[in-house]
Amino acid sequence: MSSRVVTVFLLTGLLLATVSLLGARAEVHLPGNHQGYEPVQPIAYSHRLHAGELGINCLYCHSGAEKSRQAGIPAANVCMNCHRQVTAPFDQVRAEEKEAAADKRKPRLIVSAELRKLYDSFGLDENLKEDPARPKRPLEWVRVHQLPDFVAFDHRPHVAAGVTCQTCHGPSETMERVRQVEDLSMGWCVNCHRAATEKGVGGKPAQATTDCAACHY
Ligand code: HEC
Ligand code: HEC
Ligand code: HEC
Ligand code: HEC
Ligand code: HEC
Repeated sequence: MSSRVVTVFLLTGLLLATVSLLGARAEVHLPGNHQGYEPVQPIAYSHRLHAGELGINCLYCHSGAEKSRQAGIPAANVCMNCHRQVTAPFDQVRAEEKEAAADKRKPRLIVSAELRKLYDSFGLDENLKEDPARPKRPLEWVRVHQLPDFVAFDHRPHVAAGVTCQTCHGPSETMERVRQVEDLSMGWCVNCHRAATEKGVGGKPAQATTDCAACHY
């Protein structure tokens, strides 16, 4: 047996073992199809709140989608543009301000548990001052979408042609936690390329390739 066949054998065995161990309700991800994948992230960062309710533009955090192959994950500094000031949900901050006014004292700094994790990553103390004794720990976001190495995907031509983020990623602005909506299979890419070439994108003509070498090199 070739090593590839052995690997497939082992994977299949492992998968069946996992299925029988966890029972029918287990979420099983076949190798190569991660549709529905929704990993827990190091901070409960919500696209529904930020991109939906607060209306922050996707490109404010993912500017790479216009300029490079990768859309990119924003550095924690981008979060700090707002979270130097916003340390907890507004209603909690307002409630503390009211209480403090009634007690004739200065309001305490309210820091939510989730945002504490952001400040921990910078080694900030209770007053959000840098503390040299605290180690800085960069946030390690868990990658959701991931094509195999032998496929070349570039965000730029898609964004330039007017294909919206949501066409490929689903309604991100409604998601509490990011989930992979499409199967990212070859058929998915090629079917859209055929349709786009036939019918255009948003009223504009398009020439989307089905040449093997465009996606595999
Ligand atoms: C305030 C910053 C911010 C905004 C605005 C934002 N995102 Fe994100 N996005 C993140 C962060 C941080 C992650 C990594 C953590 C996660 O997956 O939730 C992420 C992850 C993602 C991912 C998954 C990446 C992967 O690992 O595969 C997609 C897709 C995505 N965002 C799409 C969007 C879209 C579409 C919009 C606009 C509707 C948007 N984002 C707006 C910060 C942002
Ligand atoms: C034509 C489909 C398509 C469109 C349109 C698209 N994406 Fe993606 N996106 C993908 C695929 C496929 C991947 C996985 C790429 C890989 O693994 O190499 C991905 C990966 C990502 C990632 C994680 C990896 C990275 O590139 O940093 C983020 C974040 C992301 N997309 C955000 C966005 C945002 C924001 C938009 C809109 C501005 C957008 N995408 C538009 C298909 C698309
Ligand atoms: C443009 C401003 C802005 C940016 C940029 C931003 N946020 Fe926020 N975020 C807010 C606001 C405002 C709230 C509070 C809304 C409310 O009252 O609930 C919030 C709430 C949160 C909360 C929920 C707090 C809780 O405990 O309920 C978390 C977690 C969070 N943000 C993480 C992040 C992360 C991580 C980033 C960077 C990827 C980020 N934010 C970028 C404005 C921003
Ligand atoms: C929803 C539709 C859609 C999906 C899904 C899609 N594409 Fe595309 N793709 C397009 C359009 C539209 C263009 C640009 C055509 C043009 O510029 O006229 C394009 C262009 C490209 C190009 C050509 C870039 C160039 O410089 O000519 C490549 C390569 C590509 N896509 C790869 C992929 C891969 C790989 C996937 C799947 C992982 C994918 N696409 C999924 C619509 C899509
Ligand atoms: C528009 C992009 C695109 C084009 C054009 C394309 N492929 Fe693919 N191909 C993919 C993607 C994406 C995958 C990964 C599928 C997955 O992970 O499920 C893939 C996977 C494959 C695989 C691995 C087996 C499989 O089905 O997953 C082979 C072999 C392959 N392609 C050959 C070809 C050949 C031959 C052509 C030309 C006739 C071609 N591809 C054209 C995007 C493309």
